[in-house]
Amino acid sequence: MSQNAQSASLTPEQQAQLRHLAEAAAAHSYSPYSHFRVGAALLLTDGAIITGCNVENCSYRLTSCAEQGAIARAVAEHGPGIRLRAVAVANLNSAASMPCGACRQTLTEFGDDDTLILYPGENGTPEATTLGELLPHALRLEYLEPK
Ligand code: THU
Repeated sequence: MSQNAQSASLTPEQQAQLRHLAEAAAAHSYSPYSHFRVGAALLLTDGAIITGCNVENCSYRLTSCAEQGAIARAVAEHGPGIRLRAVAVANLNSAASMPCGACRQTLTEFGDDDTLILYPGENGTPEATTLGELLPHALRLEYLEPK
């Protein structure tokens, strides 16, 4: 499915709701180091929505991104078979932001190339792309299976 077709598979209202839930989740961010308050909202293929926020750590490297927190929560609450239809990320810093490289790989474990990614662009413009666009040629489970 093309990016536009995927984007159209969620109504503008559904997209706005997912963005709103990501923003609401960012209010719980624990980010005393970066002060970058991030939230993520996952729309699963069964219609469930799960949110998460970033949780930083004084070691710095143990920081968990909002997307990672949301994925861990989704698996804990809905089981290992979850699949991602769409993911919204938001921040309370009025900044453009994208899932980091590590989060792209984390999302790929439960999504596919057509998974819709909603994110804030420059000047607060709502932007949309797909996971396949963000992480082409990703490592996937099937690559680990012996031939
Ligand atoms: N962060 C996220 O939670 N998600 C992203 O998509 C980008 C970055 C967090 C990690 C760290 O707590 C802060 O934002 C600054 O990088």
